[in-house]
Amino acid sequence: MLYPVIAAAGLILVRVSLPLPTEIDFIRLGFWTVITLIAAALPVRLPGGVHATITTAPVLAALFDTGLGNPFGVCWVAFVGTFEPRDFRGEPKWYGTLFNRADWVISSYAAWLVLLGTRSVLTTGAPLAMVLQIVAAGGVFAIVNNTLGLLANSLKNQTPISRVWALSVSNIVIGIVSQVPLGWLMAEIATRVGPWAVILFMVPLLLARFSFSKYTETRELFFGSVSALSQAIDAKDGFTRGHADRVSRIAGAIAREMGLAEKEVELIELAGLLHDIGKIGVEDRILMKPARLDDDETELMRRHPIYGASILRPAAALLPLVPLVMHHHENYDGSGYPEGLSGDAIPLGSRIIIVADAYEAMTSDRVYRKAIGHERAMDQLNRYKSRQFDPKVVRALDALITSRGVAAFEASDLPQIEYETLAELRRRLAQDPLIRDAHAG
Ligand SMILES: [Fe+2]
Repeated sequence: MLYPVIAAAGLILVRVSLPLPTEIDFIRLGFWTVITLIAAALPVRLPGGVHATITTAPVLAALFDTGLGNPFGVCWVAFVGTFEPRDFRGEPKWYGTLFNRADWVISSYAAWLVLLGTRSVLTTGAPLAMVLQIVAAGGVFAIVNNTLGLLANSLKNQTPISRVWALSVSNIVIGIVSQVPLGWLMAEIATRVGPWAVILFMVPLLLARFSFSKYTETRELFFGSVSALSQAIDAKDGFTRGHADRVSRIAGAIAREMGLAEKEVELIELAGLLHDIGKIGVEDRILMKPARLDDDETELMRRHPIYGASILRPAAALLPLVPLVMHHHENYDGSGYPEGLSGDAIPLGSRIIIVADAYEAMTSDRVYRKAIGHERAMDQLNRYKSRQFDPKVVRALDALITSRGVAAFEASDLPQIEYETLAELRRRLAQDPLIRDAHAG
């Protein structure tokens, strides 16, 4: 897809430049290019790999400026002005850089075509007609620009386009759309007041950029906190190092295979990370007992989903995870705990997590036994489907691994975690002579 898009943009640039339009204000052209370059110097990397910039407004300003011999002016501003510092550092690769430039050129040209097509509407001079024209041209620009960007990221990261959209652009749509009227205003002010007045527009543009970066920061903070919580239980329970992280990835992959919406997939991934957080409330002598638990101990251990739900409930951002964590040990036939729910009464996320949990436990080595391998794990899941597991979920896991292999579980946006369990940390620190001396003293 990359090369046809780059070729199309090349043809557009040739088409708008030959013959060279006679009435071009080259100083103005240089001015918009510099303003766009300044805006492009401040990209924000969103989750999902998309880079958001505030270049939409100055490129649209060039589109609405009548002194640039458009579409010549806007296409060249879009091509030259949108170079970002990372392009000069060699990230992305040269074809990625060319694709991004092509994206801006094509969306600018598409917006110009809309402007041309609706010009007859504008001749009526009615303010409403003008607003409609700005909305139509700006809307087409934003749609073409972001669709091509999403497609490229989806192909590059082998991630469904819906996921890239959910992670990135869907959360900053207002910041992007607000640049459309801003672009028109910048062109008007530059014409009526003077180009210097455009500098004032850097303030709302920086505000838009601030909202992009705040979204990214908040999300990173949230995922970081959830991950830290999840590691707390992994660190305590030395038997299950990295278990929650893998359950989360497997559960997310199953949910995606079942066609759930990205927001729901994310919820299931988070619940997968935190499903056993309630084990913090289980006494160490039970949690870390190397032998089989007796009946009383089993009963106490079985309270961990209730503890987990109560730990998460006070945090508003974690509230949607509560039912998923609460019911992650409910069996499909109603024989599970804590409430004995059955069938579709169990939240779908919990039905997915119990399968991911069992599959992960069977396919990873533990201190007390070796992994049994994928084939035998699937045999077990199939044997207990309809009793312990939802057959639809087991089928989805089977289909997922058949089509993509275990690599399917790596396609997650979650940060990779370097684990060191508490037991390992204690051992490592105990070997440190300074600490030994301090204890001795
Ligand atoms: Fe559990």
